[in-house]
Amino acid sequence: MTIIVTGGAGFIGSNFVFHMLNKYPDYRIVCLDCLTYAGNLSTLEPVMDNPNFRFVKESITDREAVYKLFEEEKPDMVVNFAAESHVDRSIENPEVFLDTNIKGTAVLMDACRKYGIKRYHQVSTDEVYGDLPLDRPDLFFTEETPIHTSSPYSSSKAAADLLVLAYHRTYGLPVSISRCSNNYGPYHFPEKLIPLMIANALNDKPLPVYGEGLNVRDWLYVEDHCKAIDLIIHNGRVGEVYNVGGHNEKTNIEIVKIICKELGKPESLITHVADRKGHDMRYAIDPTKIHNELGWLPETKFEDGIKKTIKWYLENKEWWETIISGEYQNYYEKMYAHREEI
Ligand code: NAD
Ligand code: DAU
Repeated sequence: MTIIVTGGAGFIGSNFVFHMLNKYPDYRIVCLDCLTYAGNLSTLEPVMDNPNFRFVKESITDREAVYKLFEEEKPDMVVNFAAESHVDRSIENPEVFLDTNIKGTAVLMDACRKYGIKRYHQVSTDEVYGDLPLDRPDLFFTEETPIHTSSPYSSSKAAADLLVLAYHRTYGLPVSISRCSNNYGPYHFPEKLIPLMIANALNDKPLPVYGEGLNVRDWLYVEDHCKAIDLIIHNGRVGEVYNVGGHNEKTNIEIVKIICKELGKPESLITHVADRKGHDMRYAIDPTKIHNELGWLPETKFEDGIKKTIKWYLENKEWWETIISGEYQNYYEKMYAHREEI
């Protein structure tokens, strides 16, 4: 079995590469990643010498390079993690999101049609459903919830999902889609809430919470997401969408206070800053379908997952310190300078 894993040098993709190489010693895993600011080759260092692993530095938008790779590898499956993934960046500059997330998905699927494939899997997001109101805790996203996006990022992911389903219906491409809630865990890029707050707290820097911090996210440990995708690509039904999430809703301010407590840092570091434009209020997944059909359930409790994550960031300072000392400095200044304290 040969699987092309795109975006494997990023957060979830790298965790998926490790999971698959560990669990399936007879699989060949080919990582296709163009190493944007979010891709980090040092993350894949532990598997670079594994004979079942190959890294290829190309973009999923480069048709010629993608076709060449399919000719060389004749993959059985493609799992597409490659994307521009940060909502705040999409608000500043949507274009690259359309290019990578929509066009890149189409190029990969065209290659699948041309060379044949057993499964094309699209790693999507619960953000395609928009958001839920805070005063309706009885509501959850199901696979039938209408697509209703808020940001350029989520719109680009929704467009990609629609293309994937269209390629299934029109060309009979054997596809599946997973729509997961917020992940956390090792190798999470420090621009995102949890690693950003860990890194800032460790450096005794202000912890910038957007608005009142009452927005709710449904947090899932990254390993549980990887296990869900593993189940879907092997046993999930072709043409289907599976929601992935763990009934673990927390407000942003709760998360930041937990991090302060775990690190022994004062809550006085918390600063409330200007809100994200179009900020989604609440995400909450109903995972009934993947549980009933594939037996998936989240295994890591948040209390354990956040401890493991913090421990990882403490033990792997070099990984994130290298990131935040480079180009990230300019990003941080640009992104947070205009977010006035409120
Ligand atoms: P990430 O930003 O950490 O990593 C993205 C990876 O894709 C990087 O390695 C980057 O170099 C690569 N990439 C970007 N553009 C590329 C291109 N044109 N060609 C090849 N590689 C390219 O992202 P992540 O958080 O690991 O998310 C992975 C996927 O999961 C994304 O599709 C995202 O939409 C989805 N998702 C993320 C979450 C989450 O909580 N992080 C939740 C649900 C779904
Ligand atoms: O739900 C799945 C999505 O989760 C994925 O599709 C995205 O790729 C992923 O980035 C994530 O999107 P969010 O926008 O929910 O994640 P982020 O970590 O950027 O923000 C989480 C919440 O924290 C959100 O309500 C905004 C808030 N926030 C974020 C940052 C970076 C802050 O209050 N301060 C911050 O500095």
